[in-house]
Amino acid sequence: MKIIVARSGRDFVLTAADIISAHLSDVTTPVIGLATGDTFTDVYRELVARYRDGRLSFAKTRALLLDEYAGIAAHHPQRFRNVICAELIDRTDLTADALHSPDGNAKDLQQECARYDRLIADAGVGLQLLGIGQNGHIAFNEPGTSFSSGTHVARLTAETRRDNARFFPSPPEVPRYALTQSSGTILMASELAMLARGKSKARAIRQAIGGPVDTSVPASALQLHAKVTVIMDREAATELA
Ligand code: F6R
Repeated sequence: MKIIVARSGRDFVLTAADIISAHLSDVTTPVIGLATGDTFTDVYRELVARYRDGRLSFAKTRALLLDEYAGIAAHHPQRFRNVICAELIDRTDLTADALHSPDGNAKDLQQECARYDRLIADAGVGLQLLGIGQNGHIAFNEPGTSFSSGTHVARLTAETRRDNARFFPSPPEVPRYALTQSSGTILMASELAMLARGKSKARAIRQAIGGPVDTSVPASALQLHAKVTVIMDREAATELA
């Protein structure tokens, strides 16, 4: 596992954007796994800037989302698919057809999870981007979730719903369920890049990197992968020895 502690906020963004840019440029038909959330906002903004000045193209890229809220209105701005449309599709040459996501409004969510697993297996993710929750979750694999559960319907913990309330007009509006890739599915990607910013992530980072591999800290599953880069700022690194 390669651990990078960024010198500044700008260094954090550039380091992450460089890893993504290198992957998109080196691979003929890239398949990238995208995360949503605050951690990625500035990174995606940097990718848009690189696209605008001609340094980066997504024309041949397929993108797969990690997760999606269940039962969220199709046009809700916080539906993860809509977030990525606003952050990348509306601003680059990544097309809506090339963006795949689990449908949180599917009639049969179990069938939808199975469909998404097949799609991921067929696509073969090259670079998977990940954030980390304060409780150590990756995607919406909450503590205690089996690594090998496949894409599944997750009940969000009270802590995750509290954390995500900042994106919604009021806390009760945060969905209670989501469809999420499992940790095991995430580990199938050829390369993983996990990003963490801020003091609130310090404990989760220490447990994920330095603690035992255990479902109580879903991000600890990354220790089982051969090619992982973890990029963090100084605040997120404060509990590392
Ligand atoms: C979102 C996702 C989540 C976030 C995590 C960190 O697609 O998979 O695991 O990456 O909750 O979110 P932020 O970046 O908002 O702190």
